[in-house]
Amino acid sequence: MDKLTEVEKKVSDTLLLVKKRVTFSPKVALVLGSGLGCFADQLRIAEEIPYAELEGFPTSTVAGHAGKFIFGYLDDVPVACMKGRVHYYEGYSMNDVCLPVRVMARMGAKVLFLTNAAGGLNESFQAGDLMMIRDHVSIFVPNPLIGPNPESFGTRFSDMSQVYNLELQEILKNTARELEIPLREGVYTQLTGPSYESPAEIRLLRSLGTDAVGMSTVVEAIAANHAGMKICGISCISNLAAGMSGKPLNHKEVQEAADSAAKKFTALVAGAIKEMGRRDW
Ligand code: HPA
Repeated sequence: MDKLTEVEKKVSDTLLLVKKRVTFSPKVALVLGSGLGCFADQLRIAEEIPYAELEGFPTSTVAGHAGKFIFGYLDDVPVACMKGRVHYYEGYSMNDVCLPVRVMARMGAKVLFLTNAAGGLNESFQAGDLMMIRDHVSIFVPNPLIGPNPESFGTRFSDMSQVYNLELQEILKNTARELEIPLREGVYTQLTGPSYESPAEIRLLRSLGTDAVGMSTVVEAIAANHAGMKICGISCISNLAAGMSGKPLNHKEVQEAADSAAKKFTALVAGAIKEMGRRDW
């Protein structure tokens, strides 16, 4: 057998550490973004593993991003949930940023549900809105697939023509309609952060068709798409982007808006995951 690449080895080593703690086959992998960790209270927990207890695993340094895996059930749907993620701006490599998603794929999760807090660029959005991600712009951050391509991960040149799965989008829209939760749709652009954007940058992003901007998600979607996962995503619009509201941005405001959207966010994610659990992927 060919020698494992460094990245393959790290994924395999982490998988072994997780398997020592829990026997669990997730159907859905869920990443809870800034201030959205409250959803985890819905799960009947089988095992929790703080990232800090997994040797070599990236741990978040940001307030409001408490980092742990929660493996649990929503009704009878097995969900691998990340409460908090790490970001490129913390100084981790893109491979480390994408490690958790690759581990959840190797555990058997076929569906990846990504969530984040984001700045809204679309003029019709308001703080507290939920936006289903239809597509993304990745060109402002390094591609996580740069480097040797382990065939065990996926193909060298991956197709990106439909990253956000249409059946999952239908589930999200139907669930939102049934629960009477307004659901926006749009394009999410990832920047590196950690500084927020300038008004000129926001004008540029809007001219590119961006509806929401943030510092995560897209690279995870690229790695998961490479791994053959079916992907969907929700942004919680925590603020209007720089220059749109006349107020400076701050992290506390981002967290407070996420808190205020928590109830509908939780209901939408729970309803959608239950429906995902009923289908074969
Ligand atoms: N810009 C970038 N990232 C963000 C924002 C924003 O306005 N709000 C929440 N995350």
